Amino acid sequence: MSSVLQKLISPLATGPAEPPRNKVTVVGVGQVGMACAVSILLRDLCDELALVDVMEDRLKGEMMDLQHGSLFLKTSKIVADKVDVLTYVTWKLSGLPKHRVIGSGTNLDSARFRYLMAERLGIHSSSFNGWVLGEHGDTSVPVWSGANVAGVNLQKLNPDIGTDSDKEQWKATHKEVVDSAYEVIKLKGYTNWAIGLSVADLTESIVKNMSRVHPVSTMVKDMYGIGEEVFLSLPCVLNSTGVSSVVNMTLTDAEVGQLRKSADTLWGIQKDLKDI
Ligand SMILES: *[C@@H]1O[C@H](CO)[C@@H](O)[C@H](O)[C@H]1NC(C)=O
Ligand SMILES: *[C@@H]1O[C@H](CO)[C@@H](O)[C@H](O)[C@H]1NC(C)=O
Ligand SMILES: *[C@@H]1O[C@H](CO)[C@@H](O)[C@H](O)[C@H]1NC(C)=O
Repeated sequence: MSSVLQKLISPLATGPAEPPRNKVTVVGVGQVGMACAVSILLRDLCDELALVDVMEDRLKGEMMDLQHGSLFLKTSKIVADKVDVLTYVTWKLSGLPKHRVIGSGTNLDSARFRYLMAERLGIHSSSFNGWVLGEHGDTSVPVWSGANVAGVNLQKLNPDIGTDSDKEQWKATHKEVVDSAYEVIKLKGYTNWAIGLSVADLTESIVKNMSRVHPVSTMVKDMYGIGEEVFLSLPCVLNSTGVSSVVNMTLTDAEVGQLRKSADTLWGIQKDLKDI
C-alpha cells in the first residue's frame, strides 16, 4: 500500500542533495542576532540560514518561530545548531587571514550620521554622502571634508562646517550619532533593528560579490602614519573574498589627527590585552 506522498509525488532527480550555495550562520540568538537573521531573510540573501547559540531552548524556539514564517520567506532551509558552536570557536582560533575577518565598525555610525544629516536637509539618507570613520562610538571621526549631496561639497558651502565656530552647529549631528546608541538603550533597553539591517547590508555585498564600499573595520597599520596593529574603520571594498581593498581617502590634517587619536586610544587598550 503506497503512502499519500508516494501517490502524489514521483521523484525524477536522483543522487545526493546539493550543498547550499549561500549559507549564512548567525551566532547568538539575542536581540541583535535575531534582528540580523530577520534582515538577512527578508532580503533573500541566503538559501540556508543557521542559528547558533548555547541556550538550547531559546535557540529551538527562535528556529521554530522563523520556520513557521517560511510561507512568507524565500530561504528554503532554516536550521539551528549547537555543534556549530565548536566550529565557531575553531574558526575564532583558526587565524583566518585579516581580509576575511570584518568588524561592522562604523558602518552603523555612518548610517545614523547619514540619516540625521539627511533629515536636517529634507532628503533620503541614501542621497546624503558622508562617512564616519575610525573607532565605533565616542571617538569616531566624521569626515566633514567629504560630506556632499549630489557631489556638492558642504564644506565648500560652509567652511566652518563641523567645527565649534560653525554658526549652524552641524557638529551637533555627529554628537547625536555618538549619543544615539545610549539614548535608544535608555529607552528600550538595547539596540537591534538598525544594527541588524546594517549587518544584512554588509552580508549582501559579500554574498553577491558586489564590491560596494562600506565603512568597516580593517587592519590600518602603515596607513595615515598609524604604526600599531589596530583595527579601525575605513572605506573598504567588500566582495566574496571579504575586504578586497581599502579606499585611500583625501582627509584634512585635522581628520588624520583624529584617526591617529582613535588608533592611540585602541592601542592603549589592546597592548594590555596582548599580555593576557
Ligand atoms: C567577483 O567580482 C569580481 C569583480 O569585482 C570578478 O572579477 C570576479 O570574477 C567575481 N567573482 C565571483 C566568484 O563571482
Ligand atoms: C574580489 O575583488 C578582488 C580585487 O578586486 C579580486 O582580486 C577578487 O578575485 C574578488 N573576489 C572574488 C571572489 O572574485
Ligand atoms: C593616500 O593619499 C595621500 C594623499 O591624499 C598620499 O599622500 C598617500 O601616499 C596615499 N597612500 C597610498 C597608500 O597610496
